[in-house]
Amino acid sequence: MSPKNRASWLPAPKSATNVVESAPYTSPTTNELVIKTKAIALNPADVVIQQLGVLIQHYPAILGCDVAGEVVEVDPSLADRYELGNRVIGTASCLDTRDGKYCYAGFQEYVVLKAPQIAKIPVDVSYQDAVVLPLGILASASSLFAVGTLALSIPDAAKPPHGGGGLGKTVVVWGASSSVGSCGVQLAAQAGYEVIGVASGKNHQMVKSLGAAACFDQNDPSIVDSMLSYLQGKQVEGAFCSIASDSALDTLSEILDRSEGRKLVASVIPGAETKGSKGVTIVTNLKLDVHDTQYMEPVWKWLNQAMVEKKVKYAPPPEVVGNGLEAVQEGVDLLAKGVSAKKLVVLV
Ligand SMILES: NC(=O)c1ccc[n+]([C@@H]2O[C@H](COP(=O)([O-])OP(=O)(O)OC[C@H]3O[C@@H](n4cnc5c(N)ncnc54)[C@H](OP(=O)(O)O)[C@@H]3O)[C@@H](O)[C@H]2O)c1
Repeated sequence: MSPKNRASWLPAPKSATNVVESAPYTSPTTNELVIKTKAIALNPADVVIQQLGVLIQHYPAILGCDVAGEVVEVDPSLADRYELGNRVIGTASCLDTRDGKYCYAGFQEYVVLKAPQIAKIPVDVSYQDAVVLPLGILASASSLFAVGTLALSIPDAAKPPHGGGGLGKTVVVWGASSSVGSCGVQLAAQAGYEVIGVASGKNHQMVKSLGAAACFDQNDPSIVDSMLSYLQGKQVEGAFCSIASDSALDTLSEILDRSEGRKLVASVIPGAETKGSKGVTIVTNLKLDVHDTQYMEPVWKWLNQAMVEKKVKYAPPPEVVGNGLEAVQEGVDLLAKGVSAKKLVVLV
């Protein structure tokens, strides 16, 4: 008999509150497994979809992008890699449905996850720490590595990390203390790029601990001159802007225009493509197939190994805002007020 599932449902577009009620349990198909959810991380997408009523066509709906949990059912196609009881993280999605069911969405007790976007959690790592990573990895990997975005080299799980800018090329990550930016800093640094982060001064130490060689403050009025002076003589491979800010795009355009190297910014924000200036092109990851195995497969292979070898940090750190699906709405409301270098998490 299938387990009884429950979800935090969004009843209608722009509903102010989620409602916890029963939901269908869905078994996995090819390349899928099901987890019993233990931790959920909250994301700006959860806020935006709920407040603006965008992206989702069918209500009631289940949102949620980041989950960690225990494997309870595995499709035979994944039986050589996963077994019941494995502790894993994975990217959830409310944009992907099967037969009209939100079986891949994160705000529920049983979630279907798709390979390759699944990673095993080492025994000494908690669900609440591990759950900060999945969507940050997905969004930053697609922005850094996919053809059509920055198309940088992917960290190679089989080789020791270059570290310390071994490729002799530099990448700027603006929004480096955000969830997406933190993952971007780690991925680019471990691929061998020298990473220059931009974040508030109070978060520079954290950003450097993720692998950034230097950090600049977005609130510093002389940031353009300071960065240009630092970048002098360096081969800049472009920039990753992981936050929604037109002024950040303008400033990055000015910096790339006046430095050596590629005049290319990858953004995660819809419509950013139209905001390039001074000969700088802005691309986004939004039209990419998130299941494109060409870059996702090696990135998640790297992540699995990096977690085992403790080469990845669970950043930004989690802040647990409550227990149970009933706490999801409170967490979404808190996130709507804004966070700095932290990921809000609900334990289930
Ligand atoms: N397209 C996609 O695939 C995709 C996927 C996930 C998220 N997103 C979008 O990506 C954005 C970031 O998401 P997230 O979860 O990473 O956000 P988040 O962690 O909630 O963002 C908070 C962080 O943003 C930083 N920040 C805010 N304004 C900044 C500025 N002007 N300059 C530099 N840093 C700034 C803050 O840094 P300080 O406190 O250090 O100032 C803070 O740490 C959101 O707009 C989200 O909707 C897109």
